[in-house]
This record gives sequence, C-alpha cells and structure tokens, in this order.
Amino acid sequence: VKRITTHILQEMKQSGEKISMLTAYDYSMATVLDDAGLDVLLVGDSASNVMAGHETTLPITLDQMIYHAQGVVRGATRAFVVVDLPFGSYQGNSKEALSSAIRIMKESGAHGVKLEGGTEIVDSIERIITAGIPVMGHLGLTPQSIYKFGTYTVRAKDEAEAEKLKTDAMALQDAGCFAVVLEKIPAVLAKGVAESLHIPVIGIGAGPHCDGQVLVVNDMIGLTKGFKPRFLRQYLNLYEEILGAAQAYIKDVKANDFPNEKEQY
Ligand code: KIV
Ligand code: NA
Repeated sequence: VKRITTHILQEMKQSGEKISMLTAYDYSMATVLDDAGLDVLLVGDSASNVMAGHETTLPITLDQMIYHAQGVVRGATRAFVVVDLPFGSYQGNSKEALSSAIRIMKESGAHGVKLEGGTEIVDSIERIITAGIPVMGHLGLTPQSIYKFGTYTVRAKDEAEAEKLKTDAMALQDAGCFAVVLEKIPAVLAKGVAESLHIPVIGIGAGPHCDGQVLVVNDMIGLTKGFKPRFLRQYLNLYEEILGAAQAYIKDVKANDFPNEKEQY
C-alpha cells in the first residue's frame, strides 16, 4: 500500500476529499485503524488522559510519547503518523523544540509532529521545518494551556479571540505547517479559516466546513466513561461491551465453566 504523505493531504484539500484522522496510542489499535483506512493517525498527548489516567495532558513526558509512537508506527502501513510534542518539550525555545522533534522522528519513525500555539511558537515551528520535519499546528482549545484558561469550554467566541485565531492560523501556514488542527471553536469561524488557508484544516468540535475531522479514538468508541461533549459522535459503547465480557468471564471462571474440554491440552 502507498503511504499517505503531506502532498496527498494537500491534494485532498484541493479536491475536496475530507481527511479522516483519529488518535492512536498503541500497536493493536493502530493496526485496526490503519486497516480501516484512516488517512492520519495522531499519537496525541491525550494519551496522558486516556492511557495514563491523568487529569490533564501536562504530565506526559517526551519518552512516554515516543513509546506510544513506536507502537503506532509499527502498526500503521498506510496512515500518516503525527506525534504531539508534549508540554514542556518545545515552548519558548526553538533549539529545544527542534531536538524534541528530532528525538520523536528518530526514535519512533513517525512522519510528523504537532505543536499547540500560534505566533508565540512560530520560531520553533520554522526551525523544526527547516530540519525537514513536517509540522501540524493546533489552535483554539489547546489543552496544554488549560491552567491559563481554567476551562475546556468553546474558544474564540468573542471578536478579539477570533481575530487572534485567524492571525495565528495564517502565521502557521506562512511558517510552513502542512496542516492545522482547530479544536472546539464556532463552526462559522472554522469555516472562514478553512476557506482562507490553502493547507488542510482538521477540526475537532469545529463544525463541518473543515477539510477533515479528528476525534480521540477512546471517546469515539465509547471507552471513556462519562465523557460525552456535544461534538463527540460515539460509534460504539465499548465500555459496556468490555464490562459485559469481563463479567461473563468472571462468571465462567467462578462456575468452573472455563476452560472446558476443548480449551485445554
Ligand atoms: O491529543 C489529542 O488527542 C489531540 C487531538 C484532540 C487533536 O491533540
Ligand atoms: Na494533543
């Protein structure tokens, strides 16, 4: 199979074919999602929440992101694999940003990195791109700055914030980003950004006018108990499925019904 490239993603924007993206954090999930035909797999720092059980994305380390990325890369033969630079590995220091990005590329074999922020991190983005590493931007709700905002509610609802987001999106494009994620902003604002940029805009909670969509896979398959924001479409209730399977297994073990004659040597 032919590997998805930034060039192909750019062509998809031009032809109007929507880009499908989901997060993945391990080999097994990556093999299924890659088989299904996802265009992009994101090793998101949401691993901090859904894999490690932290309340925020801040604690996850570069080493941990690389570990997750290694498994995803081994499982993905077609999808373009993007890895989040974790909090503290790039902010305000372009040299450190570059060395973090290089570690991810070298040690995991991923195809690109994603960083949260706009004009403040343009220096870092340019430096990473100069080294030949594709960069995806991320604007709107940026979970690494949760303590600056205090909530995970919709962003850029007022005019000033919306203008800043548009400026940031243009700055990311000018810096050379191959795509930008817009998280949890009004659909009408995302529409304007998607129309004004020539690079793909991937939305999460940003309406239907983006060039592609991304969701956290654990949320999308219903494995994240009690998390159901408006933007989330839940395709499975895997929490209930696994609960039922685990309970059936317990019952069989207790009843001495497992293993049976065929399930032994
Ligand atoms: O870490 C993550 O899952 C993300 C997506 C929500 C875009 O950054
Ligand atoms: Na992220």
